[in-house]
Amino acid sequence: MDREWWRSASGYQIYIRSFKDGNNDGIGDLKGIRQKLNYIKSIGVDFIWICPFYDSPMEDNGYDVRDYLKVAQEYGSMTDLKKLILDAHSLGLKVVLDLVLNHTSSTHNWFKKSENRIPPYEDMYVWKDGKEINGVLSEPNNWQSFFSGTAWKYSPKRKQYYLRIFSATMPDINYENDVAFEKIAEVVDFYGNMGVDGFRVDAVAHIGKDLKFKDGKKGKTYLRFSNQPNAHKYLQKLNAVFKKNNMVTIGELGGDPDDKALLKYTHNELDMVCSFEHMGVFGDKHTINTSALLKTLKRKEKLGAKGGWATLFWLNHDYPRLISKIDGEGDAKNGQICLSALMYLLKGTPIIYNGEEIGMQNYPFASPKDFLDVNARMVLENAEDKEKAFANLKESTRDHARTVMQWTDEKYAGFSNVKPLTYVNKNYKKINAEKASLDKNSILNNYRKILELRKNIIDEICDGKYKFYSQKGVIGYKICGKHTNILVLANLSSNNYTPKSSITQMLYSNMKYSNNLAPYQIIVAKINK
Ligand code: GLC
Ligand code: CA
Repeated sequence: MDREWWRSASGYQIYIRSFKDGNNDGIGDLKGIRQKLNYIKSIGVDFIWICPFYDSPMEDNGYDVRDYLKVAQEYGSMTDLKKLILDAHSLGLKVVLDLVLNHTSSTHNWFKKSENRIPPYEDMYVWKDGKEINGVLSEPNNWQSFFSGTAWKYSPKRKQYYLRIFSATMPDINYENDVAFEKIAEVVDFYGNMGVDGFRVDAVAHIGKDLKFKDGKKGKTYLRFSNQPNAHKYLQKLNAVFKKNNMVTIGELGGDPDDKALLKYTHNELDMVCSFEHMGVFGDKHTINTSALLKTLKRKEKLGAKGGWATLFWLNHDYPRLISKIDGEGDAKNGQICLSALMYLLKGTPIIYNGEEIGMQNYPFASPKDFLDVNARMVLENAEDKEKAFANLKESTRDHARTVMQWTDEKYAGFSNVKPLTYVNKNYKKINAEKASLDKNSILNNYRKILELRKNIIDEICDGKYKFYSQKGVIGYKICGKHTNILVLANLSSNNYTPKSSITQMLYSNMKYSNNLAPYQIIVAKINK
């Protein structure tokens, strides 16, 4: 049977705002991405996923869309997008865009019409009457926003509340309504006709709401609007539109989906899923919890073995940098290489986040005023203990992932000729893509080897049986293929380790190997059957 292209592919995620400034106004843009396609290709990936570039007031950097069919002025034009797609395709890179379908911006015309009850838009968003408690009007229920505080916002115009599970200017779309469905289908068709190869589907776990709108359990009210049965129903309908356009879909599945739900999503709904359980494998003191790691690696592989498909990633634009989560005293660089290789050689599709491949680090935020992200700002605003909130955000803010991509040791890290609108990490002279390319032991050059190796053993990865192993900080798996057995083994402990299997051919290691795995060494090798 022919394998779909995306099962053997790997991808590269681009946060457009901070990736590369093509016209020197301090903001990343489509032209900048085009300039860097050769670099992206050189990593060994097969597709790019570009974060939203649509017209938007940028409350949430473009995840609040004002017009899906227009490029935001600061990012370029439709002509730039078409040129980018053409160039990417000629290099053999497919192009995946970000489809934000759970909500729009409140400045979108659809919402304005809905707020004014103009047909056929009246019910395109989730509108509810308030509840009267002791004569005072209050929210319809206790649902809380992912960005903190209530998930409802009152509209004096319509005299009703609208649901907004992210920020107050991001109203949720109501998929019980056919108009909503048709409008989003039009967007998919538009980009399908342009030759776009697929979508990463944003916040898709939340498109179904508990239609009884019951109160949720305190601290977990999001479960009332996450992975609800109706989400599957809507997705099955949408999938027909994606497939008509020959598009691949990558669904972002927050809100704690269980194994059964993930499997269901990958049957006639989405091609592959991003789930986030692995983000919890780091302990307080930047230690790696190997039993949690084993569990998460197993979970992703099992999904593939059962006929579903996972995406394999350590990072995206919503999480702090991977290397900064790994013990700073030790050899964090090789720590990252171990974690990445363990992840990227599973059944699933690896997706690398821009800057990850050169080991970009967290930014040293010094004051609550430094945060640019709406999520951080809302958390601070709603926090009772502001100091504690700041201490948490210093570690966890999404802003860490959004500092400019470090290209060279030139001023502004080669991102732009002018002062960027977002932060430049001061370590750019040491950490940048140009330098990483020249160092044969860099993360970048290890990633190149790992992705190439993945291609060479893709039959074993896709069709083989995985057997996992973990003992005293040494963790890995055997892939038992039709003709070959492959061992992937990483030493996350501080002692040397001698593997028990008899190695017949070494395929990859991040360090020189002589019968022993040094701390933070990983090997991939053929072993006796
Ligand atoms: C997703 C995006 C995140 C965004 C949110 C709302 O989780 O990854 O960046 O803020 O959806 O669109
Ligand atoms: Ca620009």
